[in-house]
Amino acid sequence: MQDLTGKVAFITGGANGIGFGMARAFLAEGMKVVIADRNEDYLAKARAALLGNNAVHFVRADVADRANLKAAADEALAAFGKIHVLCNNAGINGGGTADDPRFEAFDRVMSVNFGGVLNGTKLIVPIIKAQGEGGHVVCTSSMAGVVPLPGLAAYSASKYAVRGYAESLRMQLAPHGIGVSCLCPGATRTGMLHPPEDEPEKDFHEAEASEFQQALWQAAREGIDPLETGRMVADAIKANRFWAFTNREFLDEVIRLNREMEAAFPDQLPPPGRLKFETMRAEVSRDLLMAGNRRKTDQGGEDSMLEFGDTGAVGEK
Ligand code: NAI
Repeated sequence: MQDLTGKVAFITGGANGIGFGMARAFLAEGMKVVIADRNEDYLAKARAALLGNNAVHFVRADVADRANLKAAADEALAAFGKIHVLCNNAGINGGGTADDPRFEAFDRVMSVNFGGVLNGTKLIVPIIKAQGEGGHVVCTSSMAGVVPLPGLAAYSASKYAVRGYAESLRMQLAPHGIGVSCLCPGATRTGMLHPPEDEPEKDFHEAEASEFQQALWQAAREGIDPLETGRMVADAIKANRFWAFTNREFLDEVIRLNREMEAAFPDQLPPPGRLKFETMRAEVSRDLLMAGNRRKTDQGGEDSMLEFGDTGAVGEK
């Protein structure tokens, strides 16, 4: 989608932080924006900040509640007639460590961070497909979905899940002219990551905090402005770029991780059947991502390009 003017975006978690940054960046591109959020206070603040702007519509929606999200999508259509860009952005922190025996917090994080992406996609992508005008889906993962973070197992697992889902979605939607981007922010100054002075009512003593905590606060102070993140997302949509990385400081770690993976592969060469299959599979994936593969879809029917059955066979149905 090279020109966003007049297009409609539906942003979950759009009333604060990165979602609100996207909303403002998209409005500056001449888009219409539906801000869907669970938090009434954030919605009220966002409404006040954009007072008088007719290109924005606000709706209360919990991404973990499918009926609720479906009603919000219907309301968006009633307001603007179409949806072209879906931003699955709502997310929460926490959820516990890998060896925490409790389930509840883990389930909650998965249901919002990953479940919200799943629900948004399953409910809204069919609308975008049916319009036949192309579109774009942005899934907000995190650098926590690319590099491991100590102590944040639930959050990390949810964000790796978002990333994996987005990578597959990208291949399924390319033949429909619908792009997918995976947004992986690092420190961004939002409701989720903020220095203590953003909460003046709380009594804090920075000098008594651990060095790690102090460093985290400083990173929050130097976090990316969410509006800047929103602009990067708009650029990724226009360029149809999958990866949307915002924080340069992770690059060396990503390189190191990839090298560690490369070094862990066995030397033994694969037998020809396995090699043939994996070469075919990689080619099918590449084809799906290339412009011009719409022709094959037209011949084979919807979603016929890549189906792995129980037999592991690849091909058109
Ligand atoms: P934020 O807390 O400022 O904004 C999150 C928004 O999502 C809020 O408006 C909140 O009300 C909404 N929300 C939460 N649960 C919801 C639900 N169940 N249904 C609908 N809306 C819901 O936080 P931020 O930072 O803007 O988070 C946005 C996304 O960015 C999240 O997915 C987060 O995991 C991700 N992220 C943020 C980073 C940061 O440094 N702030 C870093 C990496 C990823």
